[in-house]
Amino acid sequence: MHVTRLRVGSVRRVQVAELLPAPGINLITGDNGAGKTSLLEALHLLAYGRSFRGRVRDGLIRTGDEAVEVFAEWQEQSPLRLRKAGLRHLGQRWEGRLDGESVTQLGELCAALAVVTFEPGSHALVTGGGEPRRRLIDWGLFHVEQAEGGHEFLRLWRRYARALKQRNQLLKARIRDGQLDAWDHELAEAGEPLTRYRQRYVEQLEPELQAVADELIPSLGRPVLGFQPGWSRDQLPLADALLVARDRDLTYGYTSVGPHRADWRIDYPALPGREALSRGQAKLTALSILLAQAAHHAHTAGEWPVVALDDLASELDRNHQCRVLQRLVSSGAQVFITGTEAPSALQGLDIRPRVFHVERGVVLPRDVA
Ligand SMILES: Nc1ncnc2c1ncn2[C@@H]1O[C@H](COP(=O)(O)OP(=O)(O)O)[C@@H](O)[C@H]1O
Ligand SMILES: [Mg+2]
Repeated sequence: MHVTRLRVGSVRRVQVAELLPAPGINLITGDNGAGKTSLLEALHLLAYGRSFRGRVRDGLIRTGDEAVEVFAEWQEQSPLRLRKAGLRHLGQRWEGRLDGESVTQLGELCAALAVVTFEPGSHALVTGGGEPRRRLIDWGLFHVEQAEGGHEFLRLWRRYARALKQRNQLLKARIRDGQLDAWDHELAEAGEPLTRYRQRYVEQLEPELQAVADELIPSLGRPVLGFQPGWSRDQLPLADALLVARDRDLTYGYTSVGPHRADWRIDYPALPGREALSRGQAKLTALSILLAQAAHHAHTAGEWPVVALDDLASELDRNHQCRVLQRLVSSGAQVFITGTEAPSALQGLDIRPRVFHVERGVVLPRDVA
């Protein structure tokens, strides 16, 4: 899929901006603080319902304005159709439209537009806590399912989230009665199949990751992915694990085991440990995972997601920029790259991007010389 129009209003210092991107490589240039990342944040917001730089109410809305507004039109390949979505986010509340209709769940918007973003905080996928890694798996599952016209994973996910909330409320109130049994049952009924989906996804991601890593960071050897379901699944079914944990959970007031604690990790068997990765290698690893996810999406959903690369040149050396860009150009994916200037790798590869130059929050189109 590729975005044909992106309109942004009141995102950080950008008052209004409109871009008509090319289906291939797009470059957003400008000085530090001009508003380049803000444009990618706007696109990411429409695709994820959240920014990659914190909550909407913590500074995404332009000072003095009421709400962030993002509108996009995009072309889908399979089936061929033009789609559009708009989101007005006030921090606490939001209003969304998809293909001319109001949406009641932010998830509906997010399932429509597939964007994969690599930004300076992405290394947290490798070095940080489990939440972004869990989100990555669930993103893949939502989108693939959506493209196939199903909603089983989403249904299980919502059912599990609801049951977890109920169980935690009981635990917090120290209520030990039949209701706990009922929610444990519900958690297990939703959580077991949910976990099978996640495990399968991680298994499918691994060969995609290996293909990307072979090309991008061959010096580290082949990475492997390990899935952790969130409880000792090889020893106990989830229902039993919840029962075993119940006394402890009542003491602490929350559910300590289950798919909400799921995680996965990447390892390079040729290296002594993840800790041995340099910061640059952790970034390349995170980028490899994101590109693997994009490729998996392409292979299963039938088209490439939009790929956004914030500050590529300051995140990657030239050699790695070249490898990434080569891969993306040959994939045919739509790509957005930001930078204070055109990455030298683009010239080396003879790629002519569509250029948008941002000055003090205003976008000026201009042809690359
Ligand atoms: N809520 C806000 N209202 C107005 N300006 C903001 C807000 N949040 C951040 N900014 C300004 O927006 C700019 C951030 O833009 P950013 O997209 O990060 O720039 P770039 O990626 O081009 O370096 C900075 O100049 C910052 O001071
Ligand atoms: Mg930036």
